[in-house]
Amino acid sequence: MVSVPTHLVSADTEWSPLRSVIVGHAADSCFPTAPPHMIKATMPEEHFASFRPKNRFPASLLDRADAEVRQFVQILRDHGVLVYRPKAIDWFAEGGYTAAMPRDGLITVGNTVIEACFAWECRHREIELGFSEILADLEKDPVVRVVRAPKVERPDALYEGIRGFGQKDAVNGEVNGTHTVHSHEWAINNARPAFDAADFLRFGKTIVGQLSNVTNQKGVDYLRSAVPEGYSVELLDVTDEHAMHIDATILPLRQRLLIYNPERVSKRALQKLDLFKDWELHAYPYQPAPRENPPRYMTSGWLLMNVFSLDEKKVVVEAGDVEFAEYIRKLGMEPIPCPFQHVNSIGGSFHCTTVDLVRQGT
Ligand code: NVA
Repeated sequence: MVSVPTHLVSADTEWSPLRSVIVGHAADSCFPTAPPHMIKATMPEEHFASFRPKNRFPASLLDRADAEVRQFVQILRDHGVLVYRPKAIDWFAEGGYTAAMPRDGLITVGNTVIEACFAWECRHREIELGFSEILADLEKDPVVRVVRAPKVERPDALYEGIRGFGQKDAVNGEVNGTHTVHSHEWAINNARPAFDAADFLRFGKTIVGQLSNVTNQKGVDYLRSAVPEGYSVELLDVTDEHAMHIDATILPLRQRLLIYNPERVSKRALQKLDLFKDWELHAYPYQPAPRENPPRYMTSGWLLMNVFSLDEKKVVVEAGDVEFAEYIRKLGMEPIPCPFQHVNSIGGSFHCTTVDLVRQGT
């Protein structure tokens, strides 16, 4: 028997029992666009040339991705979870990217939902277009606060002075494989607050995040000012010069149990945060398997860590990630397989495609 949530938004962790969630959809998604130096800093090299204006993902790929999302939604509903879906948007007509990855654009902290200050201009209207009706519904609960992102007047100001910005050759097939971003030199400056919500995860009253190619210090300060009283935002030192979204770098499976990606963060860096002093911290011991078909246009194979918790035991994992499923089973988890490779293809996995709204006990 599932208890009825008291409020429409109430979530403090990534693992407490899930009661309601937004799940995106893939239809009509297009490759996002961003300045060449940004694409080079964050996207897989073999796909650079695809990130050009008005380039649709193949229709058959999106159909399959949406079929996978429907299967995922059914798993959630079978577990008694209330699922909100965004409005269908023609991203080709709007010049945007997708409604499939709402995790990048929204973060729930307690009873507050905070909209990301996206670095990428092509995403500035994503939440407004696809999700504003859901946000309006949530705001009917007087306890819920929705913090919308400020309007950006001069999108390119974020790139001024950044090495490689203004070069035109990078995504036209002439790339020689040398990334222009050097360690700790991100693809954005600090001219205005910029952050993607997926650069942050919730651990109770502490939010853990990273600076990245889409999140700057002003973005972190903005988030600190937007979270409800009593919450804090702490930064993890990552060693990933391509950093964009922390949810394939660390994965909290339950209270005091976390898996981390040893190619991106060290145990020592994790232990620098007081929060993790009494946590079991496990480096994931295997390499993700390569995959050519369907291609991962936008991410690394570490997407296998981008799972979604229904509670402290049950976790939805990509059906082909058998080695990963076995690994977390040995840690006492119960993996629920769901095919998601076509969703993976357009930029994320289960965690990316969701925004948890209510988790019990928070
Ligand atoms: N950009 C990272 C995280 C994706 C969720 C990656 O490709 O691994």
